[in-house]
Order: sequence, then structure tokens, then C-alpha cells
Amino acid sequence: MADLVKLTIDGREVHAAPGTLVIDAAKTVGIEIPAFCYYEGLTLQAACRMCLVEVEKMPKLMTACTLPVAEGMVVRTETVQVAQARKYTLEFLLTNHPLDCPVCDKGGECELQDMVFRYGAGESRYTEEKVHTPEKQYSPVVYFDAPRCILCFRCVRICNEGMGVGALGIINRGVVSEIAPNVGDHLECDECGACIDICPVGALTSGTYRYKTRPWEMEHVGTICTHCGDGCKTTLGVRNDRIIRGNNRDRSGINGEFLCIKGRYGFDFYDHPDRLQAPLVRTNGKLEEVSWSKALEVVAQKFNKVIADQGTFGVIGSNHTSNEENFYLQKFAREVLRTNNIDHHRTGDVVTLIDALSGKTSKLGTVNDLYNAKAALVLGADLALEHPLLSFQIRANYRHHQAHVYVVTEKEVREDKYAFAKVRGRDYESLRDKLKAEPSLVILFDDSYKGDDLRKLVEFGESLGIPVKFVCLVDYANSRGAIDMGVTPELLPGFKPSGQAGMHRGELIAADLSVLWVVGANPLKGAAKRNAGFLVVQDMFLTDTAQQADVVLPAACAYEKDGTVTNTTGEVQRLTRALNTMGAKTDLEIMGFIAREMGVAATMGPWVATKVFEEIRKNVRGYEVPAPVLATGGAAQTMPVNGRIDVESRAQLVKSDHNGLFESGTLGRYSKVLNSVLESRVNR
Ligand code: SF4
Ligand code: SF4
Ligand code: SF4
Ligand code: FES
Repeated sequence: MADLVKLTIDGREVHAAPGTLVIDAAKTVGIEIPAFCYYEGLTLQAACRMCLVEVEKMPKLMTACTLPVAEGMVVRTETVQVAQARKYTLEFLLTNHPLDCPVCDKGGECELQDMVFRYGAGESRYTEEKVHTPEKQYSPVVYFDAPRCILCFRCVRICNEGMGVGALGIINRGVVSEIAPNVGDHLECDECGACIDICPVGALTSGTYRYKTRPWEMEHVGTICTHCGDGCKTTLGVRNDRIIRGNNRDRSGINGEFLCIKGRYGFDFYDHPDRLQAPLVRTNGKLEEVSWSKALEVVAQKFNKVIADQGTFGVIGSNHTSNEENFYLQKFAREVLRTNNIDHHRTGDVVTLIDALSGKTSKLGTVNDLYNAKAALVLGADLALEHPLLSFQIRANYRHHQAHVYVVTEKEVREDKYAFAKVRGRDYESLRDKLKAEPSLVILFDDSYKGDDLRKLVEFGESLGIPVKFVCLVDYANSRGAIDMGVTPELLPGFKPSGQAGMHRGELIAADLSVLWVVGANPLKGAAKRNAGFLVVQDMFLTDTAQQADVVLPAACAYEKDGTVTNTTGEVQRLTRALNTMGAKTDLEIMGFIAREMGVAATMGPWVATKVFEEIRKNVRGYEVPAPVLATGGAAQTMPVNGRIDVESRAQLVKSDHNGLFESGTLGRYSKVLNSVLESRVNR
């Protein structure tokens, strides 16, 4: 690393790498230089002049956001001249800005409001009429109020650079310049809301949040998005047991500020009118509402009777429920119901990957690796639509570090735009020479690489002679956790063979079981008919499967529970309960009540998420992660199993739903926002 440059800022000695901007160097010693257009990670704009500072031997004030540090430089950020410049800049920015803070959504967290409070003049010298243009709606989630815009270009840059979409631009000139959408009067884009979040003022506002609350009236709860497998942290703004918004402005979590439409707006399924809020029991052929105690009694009596009669049980678990719930579900199945007939919908061949990597360490890529690796090879998946965070990370890696991105996909994908090399089809072998020349590589692959194909891929990676890591793409928030927790007939938690494999999901649906117990899944989606003698379903909605059930127990969603989930890169993170929905209970609570009713609760365990996670940490290979990392809201990567996984490969069962940006299985169907955006109706 080149020698550090020494300079002084406000009399304090600062050491910074050559090329560091003064605005960033100042931050390292706790000096904040005001800025609007400068935004870490985006290209420089120098549009607002808010960051002016005095630099010795320079004739004029300089913009700290474009000025690189130099040896011996003497910078002053709080002089009379600087304060005056800030005051004038703000006066200028307010020329047309309406003074409507009391009704503006950004009030209380507006950067312009804060700056004016700190540096602005008490009164304005402008008496001319302000330019007024009416507010416009660019999409169901994006509204634009031109007079509030301070033309910092942050929105244009985040959309173009961060999202790789480029849906926003500027039209007109001077005082009538306006941010404009890409298709005439509306947007056709990812609808991610990043432009709204990054807007320092209330010019871009969200259709779902506007006029609903003030930021200080909400409780801000950090938890994990429940949609795709990427595991973005989302901070839910909650008021009176209602989620008002989702964002991650504090940049905690593996995703920094990133969220796609599902994480930012797709939480609204939780208060869909069809949400189940009371248990249902089939009486005279019809599902009828009953009390919790009645429903639990019916289930427990049936379970005990079938055990006594030595009948057959089948259990289908979920890709959305927590690790704790999955761990206890399989424990319940194996220890109480005495069966290995337990499975879930497998969306990626994690088992083969971990087996193929046996004996090797540091082979599983993290979300962070995708930002830091020198090269990434994307196989099969349309990453920007199916794994938005991973796509965002790779794009940022390319922009910031010039990473080489290789794409081998059947269709055109967003990564093509900046790919170092791309291949249509599946012939990754043709890239061998280029890949061998890379210093390091992360290979991401979807469900079309499984079984023997996946073993060949691992051999290929290992033969390149460079450090290679792998990411097995899985669909949902806890698809990975469901495998790790042993919700499969052939594997116990931690990938230990169960010894005697039971029926897999397809067989469970078809079999003439005495009881089928479905927790958070919809295996009878479509026309499939139930074959089990008795069907118990825990779910949020009356899904196709629930409609055929004998007992339906209303379940809480991920935002209504504590626990942990494991994302597609094997990183465990903590769920924190943000709200309660009347009548619904977490799947862990429901299982606990059934166990209590059956008289087996005490033999199974504590039924409290934090305690169950302790049990997981002690008993599940790979989950001995540092507790403080999770407790403080961080992500801890689970350690790969380091020996062979001695089971028959069931790779043929792996099938991804390939959800796009605007779909998310059952949850997506119940999200008003996801269904309202134009793009959800266009085949993308
Ligand atoms: S919502 Fe996202 S994709 Fe659409 S314009 Fe804003 S930043 Fe771009
Ligand atoms: S809309 Fe907001 S982010 Fe975009 S240029 Fe205007 S002030 Fe900046
Ligand atoms: S990328 Fe996935 S985890 Fe992140 S916000 Fe979108 S759906 Fe949620
Ligand atoms: S922050 Fe430097 S010019 Fe805008």
C-alpha cells in the first residue's frame, strides 16, 4: 500500500491513503462536512456546493467532495467564510423550495431541514413568486414533487449505478430542470424505492408511506426480509402494530442500504384481509372457526391416537419459517411422531455442494465476498431478478473494484451489460483460460446445476488453481436453514444421515398417510388432491392446501416472530418480532401448544426461540457461530460440514421457483404493492 498522506483538518492531523477525498478524510477524525450531492459509493457530481471548505494556499473555497488529499494540506471546515458560503448555498437551494416541512413526508429526517437549521439564514431575501409545478406520480410507489428537488442527482446515480437500471434522468434546464422517468410520464423499472430513500429532501416520496406518520412516531425494528434467499436486513417502521415502512438507512446488515421492492414494500401481505386470525376445524365437511383450545385438542387427540394405532405420519416444513421452528418441527417428527417422513420444497442442491467440498475450508462465498472477490461467475440465474442483493453486490464490485464478471446463462441478463465475458447456454468450460488468470473467483449457480453436473462444476472450479468460492442459490428466506435443520427425510440437522430415509415431499403428497402435517407450505398448490386421512395446516392464509385441511392453525409471519434464518450464502441472522397480529401464533408456539396438549412438551424442550437457538448452536454442526454477532444484529456464516455426507443424492428433487422481482410465492400473491406495480404484469 502506498504511503499515507499527512494533512490537517481543523487543526487535527489526519493520515489518509492517496486519492482519498477531503470529505472522507475528515470523517475519519469525526469531522462531518455538510454535503447533499456527495454520496459514498456513487460517482462524484459536485452539484450542490454545500461542502465548500477553506484550503490554505488555494485562492477560493474548494468542494471537499471532489478534492483529493495532498501532503501538507491545511483544511478548515468551520470558518466565518465557510459558514457564510453554506448560508448562501442554502438560500439559493431554497429559492424555489416550498416551505412545507409541516406536511412533507421527509420532515424530521430531511437533510435540507437539518442543514438550514444549522447553517441557514433566519429569513429569505427572495420575494419573487416561486416556480410551482404539481406533484406527479411515476408509479404506485414513486411520487415526485419537483419544487422540493434540489437537483443533487443522487436518485439518478443510484438508479443508474447502484441498480443498473437507469430509469431516471433530468429534463429541461436551469430553474425548471426536473427529474423525469424513463417511459413518458411513468417509470418502468425495478420499483425498488432506492431513489426515494436516497433523496435528501422530500422530492421523491413513497406511495406506501406518504402522509401516514412521522418518523419519530414509529418504533424502528431491525429484522430480516422474508422474501428471497439473500437475507437483507430491513428496518421496519412500526406504529400501533402496523408496519408503515421498511428501509435500512442505518446500513447495518449484509445489504447496507440495499433493499429490492420486496424488502422495502412487500411486507404488506401481513395485513391482507384474507389473513387467518382464528383456527378452523372441519365440521360436517366445512371449515369452521373454533377456539385455539378446541383446535389444539382436536390435533393432539388425533396425533396421540395415530401414535397409539401405529399409523403413519408425514410432515412438510417450510422455506420461510425460522431455524428454531424447523429444528423443532423435525425434532417433533422424529422424537414424538417417530418418523423420518419429513421434507420441504428444495430449491438448490446444497447437499451435493457441501459433500463435493468435503475436506476443504473457506469454500463458501458470503454476500460480502461478492463485493470483494476479483471475479464472479454467474451460472444459470437471472440474478438481478431472482437474487437482487447478490446482483447489487456484484455490480458494486464491478463499479468500485473493476471486478471481472462472467455470465453463463440461457437468456440475456442485466449482468451482460458489464460482463467481462458472456456465454449463452451452459458452456462454462470455454471460459477456463480467462478464469485461470483471475486472482480469485466466486461461482454462483442455480438449480440447473445439481447432482453430477454440480460435482463437475466443483471439480472445474477446483482445477482452476486459484482460490474459488461457491454460492448455491436457493429461493426463500430460510430455504438454506430448512436443509441445515434437517427438514429432509434423509438428513438430520447438520447434514447427519438419518439412517433410514422416509418419504420425500412428492411421496408424502401422494401417500395414503394417517396424518399429514404441513407447516408454512403449500404443497397442494394447483390441482393436487389430498390423500392423507387427516390434514393439519399451519399457515397465514387459506392456501390451496389449507382449503383441503381438517384443521387450519393461523400462523404468524416472519415479521411477527423472534428467531433466526439462514440465507443463500449460509449466513445466519436474527429475526426480531416487530408486531403482533390478533389471533395468529408463531409456528414454534403452535407446535409447543400441540406438544403440551399431547403431554410431550417437557420432553422436547424450552419452546422459546432464544433457547432453541442455543440448542441449535450446541447440536447442529456448522452452527457454533459466535452468539454476540447475532445478538448485535450481525450475520454469522455457518461453517461447512467437513466430511462426506453419506446419503443417496436426491438432486432430482431440487427445483427452484425462479421467482422474479415482483413475485414471492404465496406471500407475493397477498402483497398489494407487488401486484400493483405495472412491471408485475409484464413478463420480465
Ligand atoms: S424505484 Fe429503483 S429502479 Fe425505479 S427509478 Fe427508483 S431507483 Fe430506479
Ligand atoms: S429528486 Fe431528490 S435525489 Fe433526485 S435530484 Fe432531486 S433532491 Fe436529489
Ligand atoms: S433482495 Fe431478497 S432479501 Fe433482499 S430485500 Fe429483496 S427479496 Fe428481500
Ligand atoms: S457535496 Fe460537494 S458539491 Fe455537493
